[in-house]
Amino acid sequence: MRTHLCGNLNESQADERVSLCGWVHARRDLGGLIFLSLRDHGGIVQVVVEPDSPVFADAEKLRNEYCVRVSGVVRMRPQSQWNENMATGKVEVLADEIELFNASAPLPLLMTDEDGEEIRLRYRYLDLRRPRMQHNMRIRARMNQAIRHHLEAAGYAEFETPILTKATPEGARDYLVPSRVNSGQFYALPQSPQIFKQLLMMAGMDRYYQIARCFRDEDLRADRQPEFTQLDMELAFVEEADVQDSAEALVRAVFRDTLEVELEDPFPRLTWRQAMQRYGSDKPDLRIPMELVDVDDHVKHVEFRVFSGPAAAADQRVAALRVPGGADLSRKQIDEYSAYVARYGAKGLAWIKVNDADAGLEGLQSPIAKFLDDAAWSGIAAATGAATGDILLFGAGDWLTTSNFMGQLLVKVGHDRDLAEAGWKPLWVTHFPMFERDEEEGRLYAMHHPFTAPSEDDPQALLAAPEQALSKGYDMVLNGAEIGGGSVRIHKPEMQQAVFELLGIGQQEAAEKFGHLLEALKYGCPPHGGIAFGLDRIAALMAGEASIRDVIAFPKTTTAQCLLTDAPSAIDDRQLAELHIRNIED
Ligand code: AMO
Ligand code: AMP
Repeated sequence: MRTHLCGNLNESQADERVSLCGWVHARRDLGGLIFLSLRDHGGIVQVVVEPDSPVFADAEKLRNEYCVRVSGVVRMRPQSQWNENMATGKVEVLADEIELFNASAPLPLLMTDEDGEEIRLRYRYLDLRRPRMQHNMRIRARMNQAIRHHLEAAGYAEFETPILTKATPEGARDYLVPSRVNSGQFYALPQSPQIFKQLLMMAGMDRYYQIARCFRDEDLRADRQPEFTQLDMELAFVEEADVQDSAEALVRAVFRDTLEVELEDPFPRLTWRQAMQRYGSDKPDLRIPMELVDVDDHVKHVEFRVFSGPAAAADQRVAALRVPGGADLSRKQIDEYSAYVARYGAKGLAWIKVNDADAGLEGLQSPIAKFLDDAAWSGIAAATGAATGDILLFGAGDWLTTSNFMGQLLVKVGHDRDLAEAGWKPLWVTHFPMFERDEEEGRLYAMHHPFTAPSEDDPQALLAAPEQALSKGYDMVLNGAEIGGGSVRIHKPEMQQAVFELLGIGQQEAAEKFGHLLEALKYGCPPHGGIAFGLDRIAALMAGEASIRDVIAFPKTTTAQCLLTDAPSAIDDRQLAELHIRNIED
């Protein structure tokens, strides 16, 4: 049907006869001369229809998004009309044949960035025709291809795991599927292939990967969808470093093949504790050149209880954030930042503007300067590197809460002041705590998932001091986004039992939910570990999109609906009855 793609035409086809298929992107009538922009997935090219052309009358009837075939001769545009912004900008096609495949009804959307998300999702097949979305989807396809290419060469094999299965806990609610033939029983859609990939290692598959769909019924945001795609990997006979090296080589190859970007080698590493201490986050954005600085040692002795109390306590901290040039912040802006950190549990936000760094305490403007003495200020100034024109923002209190709200502040101020540097900043975050405590429920949760090995090999030692335990878990972080997470797994039944016990999963419940895993651990399970990457997130970063919805062909809204198909939808009573289900609202 066609000889070329629209976007591939250039001077080398001059005087050649071509046939193109695509959509009318725009039509301009210029005093008897008709210009069409013809678009396919390869790009856009200008088509000219002259007044004496046999197809002039046909061209007059064309409207945006009509689907056509155009044949004609490629010719050079006069140099004065070259469009350097367009790949095909030096040529045009002089049309002498137009075949109309299909007209288009008047468009329900503009097909520009101005369209609202709701209308875009409702008419997704039109939205996807836009060059921006074509570009995004193809970046994603190239990324998938690069992954497979690299992993196959590295000795991995792709295996599929079930979708109709039993719950695999990753911290979200399950999507359930009722069984027709087993009355009152349900499958769960996998939150990840976690248990199956471990079973594959026990089955001797050695190096596994899968581009796997995962389902999690959780609160949705820009970087979370109810169904999303992981690159899931698992390796037998490995320690943390083996998995990390393998995963890092993969990500470097994928960025090279997809974007021609060379990521640093090796990626920097921070322990979770260091990341929280220096960036107040377990997914620091290293493009923002600011860090939190502890000033505890300099304020222990001051009269200001807000500082001296936390400075002296072991599980508390006083953290300072130096904002270069930040003395220009208004009272109103500072108040807004105080309100912002309050959302993350801050009880206040102290600040010092450095109007003259050479004048000691005299050179400061601050509601707390009166509580400081020369020793305190000179210590703070030296630790933070405060210079004239800067502002220091301070958080004090519980170590984790303070780290967290100061970390949120760092990112907010960094973006508000446009401090983030261009480029790619990957890192590993390692040595996570094994558990986190839910104060309200008074119980422990696994920080990664219940199959993650503790760094401590002895189950008794873990049971004795679970909250001090670190895990063999790790996250890969890129530009402030958690793009992947994994761990070395528990490969001994006693340890798995101990972890279940700490998580409040009793023997009977463990047997019911994870009996298949516990049993498999008894039959010569190899040491193993792995990682899963969030491919939607990586694709969004690569495409420069803020939301993963823009790199998913048919995504769901934040209320988990598909506006195109109207899913989820009611089903009729007959179908419900077959599934042994009754709607309690009836
Ligand atoms: P985890 O739960 O950390 O680990 O998931 C791995 C990666 O998947 C991405 N991700 C998501 N992306 C979009 N929408 C979501 N709702 C969503 N949830 C997670 C993130 C995350 O880093 N089985 C383990 C992996 C392992 O231990 O090997 C797991 O699923 O980028
Ligand atoms: P107060 O004595 O409560 O009026 O607080 C004096 C200053 O300390 C104000 O600027 C508060 O915002 C600030 N402040 C109070 N609590 C904290 C805290 N936990 N961390 C940082 N600053 C605080």
